[in-house]
Amino acid sequence: MHALSIKDLKKTYRSGTVALKGVSLDIPQGDFFALLGPNGAGKTTIIGIATGLVNKTSGTVEVFGHSIDKEPEVAKTFIGLVGQEINFNPFEKLIDIVVNQGGYYGLPRSEALPRARQLLTDLGLGEKMEQNGMQLSGGMKRRLMIARALIHKPRFLVLDEPTAGVDVELRRGMWDYLRKLTGEGVTILLTTHYLEEAEQLAKRVAIINKGEIVANGTMQEVLAMHDDTGAAKDGYRGGRLEEVFLKLTQEK
Ligand SMILES: Nc1ncnc2c1ncn2[C@@H]1O[C@H](COP(=O)(O)OP(=O)(O)O)[C@@H](O)[C@H]1O
Ligand SMILES: [Mg+2]
Repeated sequence: MHALSIKDLKKTYRSGTVALKGVSLDIPQGDFFALLGPNGAGKTTIIGIATGLVNKTSGTVEVFGHSIDKEPEVAKTFIGLVGQEINFNPFEKLIDIVVNQGGYYGLPRSEALPRARQLLTDLGLGEKMEQNGMQLSGGMKRRLMIARALIHKPRFLVLDEPTAGVDVELRRGMWDYLRKLTGEGVTILLTTHYLEEAEQLAKRVAIINKGEIVANGTMQEVLAMHDDTGAAKDGYRGGRLEEVFLKLTQEK
């Protein structure tokens, strides 16, 4: 069984924009999966559909074997979503933001409170939990959203560009935390603009361009798509994924 199984997914927005042209994608349980693609490729649309925020035009989506059409509520409980946009109330205390999210999943406050404290502490926000979210840095806002997404112990964490605007040092701290989660068996789907990040973190990677998957496989398989001639001339091992990415997504 896959954490996420998508078959021939199509999406045309009301505006007429064709965002997905028949996407098929399987994310194995326990995997760290990176979905890459240029702006407007359809990444957020896929995530929106999988999490029940966006209606699909056609195709099937299953989360841990549960159809989003037949069992939307069950499918949703498996997922913790860290969305692309910062979307918490800046006037609310951090601890309340996380605890209240637990409430949406039926978690009693007595259980949610210690868990929220622990999550915020693990994510380096222990000192801030009684403050509101207004004055948090970009990186702290993302970490708050990660804590909130994890309150109901989802088996599948979905992060849409979580490190956009986060400085390098904090980004690495976030990577370590995400690695720890996969070590505990949580499946992760991440979209990112930073190809180095994907190369460091992901076991499996898919590249989407203009609503179509143009590469999909293990990191090694996708890297092997690149013709190596001239790639390593400066001895720098990283950056190979970027070469593959540019080759597959640039305008012809
Ligand atoms: N709510 C919407 N209404 C109309 N078009 C949209 C909407 N959301 C996204 N799109 C369009 O769908 C395409 C895919 O967008 P998106 O999934 O956000 O891409 P990505 O996350 O890869 O940048 C783009 O052309 C975008 O402009
Ligand atoms: Mg997006």
